[in-house]
Amino acid sequence: MADKKIILTGDRPTGKLHIGHYVGSLKRRVELQNSGLYDKTFVFIADAQALTDNIDNPEKVRQNVIEVALDYLACGLDPAKSTIFIQSQIPELCELSFYYMDLVTVSRLQRNPTVKTEIQMRNFETSIPVGFFTYPISQAADITAFKATTVPAGEDQEPMIEQAREIVRRFNHIYGETLVEPEILLPTNAVCLRLPGTDGKAKMSKSLGNCIYLSDPADVVEKKIKSMYTDPTHIKVSDPGKLEGNTVFTYLDAFSRPEHFERYLPDYPNLDELKAHYTRGGLGDMKVKKFLAAIMQEELTPIRERRKEFEKDIPAVYEMLRKGCEAARETASATLDEVRKAMKINYFDDAELIAEQAKRFAQE
Ligand code: TRP
Repeated sequence: MADKKIILTGDRPTGKLHIGHYVGSLKRRVELQNSGLYDKTFVFIADAQALTDNIDNPEKVRQNVIEVALDYLACGLDPAKSTIFIQSQIPELCELSFYYMDLVTVSRLQRNPTVKTEIQMRNFETSIPVGFFTYPISQAADITAFKATTVPAGEDQEPMIEQAREIVRRFNHIYGETLVEPEILLPTNAVCLRLPGTDGKAKMSKSLGNCIYLSDPADVVEKKIKSMYTDPTHIKVSDPGKLEGNTVFTYLDAFSRPEHFERYLPDYPNLDELKAHYTRGGLGDMKVKKFLAAIMQEELTPIRERRKEFEKDIPAVYEMLRKGCEAARETASATLDEVRKAMKINYFDDAELIAEQAKRFAQE
């Protein structure tokens, strides 16, 4: 078991998945799933985590569970190769979290930078739900229940993985070698760490309305790209343009490949030449946006079409999830058996313990 390579990652179902999720993690996990380098791949929909700050909006979470499942299948996650499941259906995760809570201090949670920013974003101030505050612990349970070695995720997840690693070390130190320390697998392309929104703002977010969704129809993608933020001082085509903070070029950094130039923009050999022309002046935004749109459509069309196919049989998608939950529970429950044993709370499946106690009392 110890040297197995296991992937685990998940998403909160608070909206449909967008191209930020795609370049940040989704695309990579499909490649990893297909690479044959991993013994197992677990991908899950973190509905219980989504509820930690949406407790009064269960309908939103419920709706988005199926949206995220469809996005997964559309991107090429394959239930024959990956176990796809829903977090809340694995009660073992709650039990693990409960034990892990004893291994983490309040001040350690307060220092978690991701939780800190999220608390600010949600204006929780003094009314932070305990469940939300402790979600890094529950996330450690998600990861360790499956003995994951590798967590493909964006850079915002780094503090979570660090927290999980600390819990694993502490647990193994106290109770003996039981859990596996996970590692985060970040995108190799720096711009993919955090793709900005179409308005140039730092993050794609549903509430800012600056996302391109994987399920957006072609004309919507086209429109969103046409109205994308560029360089506000680049007014006339002849004006020199700036690349810094220019979302269209950031997206080209994330999505364009040499063959795209051959196909859609043969006047330029590569992205560097296109950037040089833009900076010099004489290259209009529309031309660059058209190029980006062609690339994005090439990437998104197959995803969109596959999604449409899966949408035709929704009961089958739920059935796939049900089977995934069943398989996931088996793994989580095996880990929990080991955890209980290590923590000495496995009273009834330990004949030795009972015999030992009987002997002790016989001697007294
Ligand atoms: N926190 C992740 C997100 O915001 C979702 C998540 C929950 C997760 N548990 C995880 C990701 C375990 C990776 C591993 O989308």
